[in-house]
Amino acid sequence: MNEMRERPNLNLARINEIIAHYQDQKWGLIPLLQKIQEEFGYIPPESTQPIAKALGLFPTQVQGVISFYTQLYTKPQGEKVVRVCRGTACHVRGGKTILKLVKQHLGIEEGETTPDYEYTLETVACIGVCALAPNIVIGTNTHGRMNPKKVAQLLGSRKDAEQHARP
Ligand code: FES
Repeated sequence: MNEMRERPNLNLARINEIIAHYQDQKWGLIPLLQKIQEEFGYIPPESTQPIAKALGLFPTQVQGVISFYTQLYTKPQGEKVVRVCRGTACHVRGGKTILKLVKQHLGIEEGETTPDYEYTLETVACIGVCALAPNIVIGTNTHGRMNPKKVAQLLGSRKDAEQHARP
């Protein structure tokens, strides 16, 4: 059964500690953002101002970089990110149906995170294993030749647990 997890804590002291390592290093903006995301799973919007101040940049410059890189998140992500491939090979082999089923199992849309922060759902362009289409990636594991049964096997227990938890 799934245990509800709390929203990740925002430890501003730790963020400031990380930022301090990059004081006055404009070139260090991307590694700094990556480091913050590595620790917190996302870039808390509250960190934009202190980052800009420490590196001698405008907050809009920091925000611009964050929004440019799709791998940088401004919202907390789930413990596991589910990526459904929307590349051509996956699409023609039923990727659309797989995405629909994954959405149903998780109860969220693309770009959303489950309320317990267990899963975030994303779609991605071709992940390079077209021969196994349709594919999904959960965390760092790729699952090929997906079908409704496999989706249920991978995510079904979650749906069952939630249904049992409902009043
Ligand atoms: S199109 Fe999905 S892996 Fe290539």
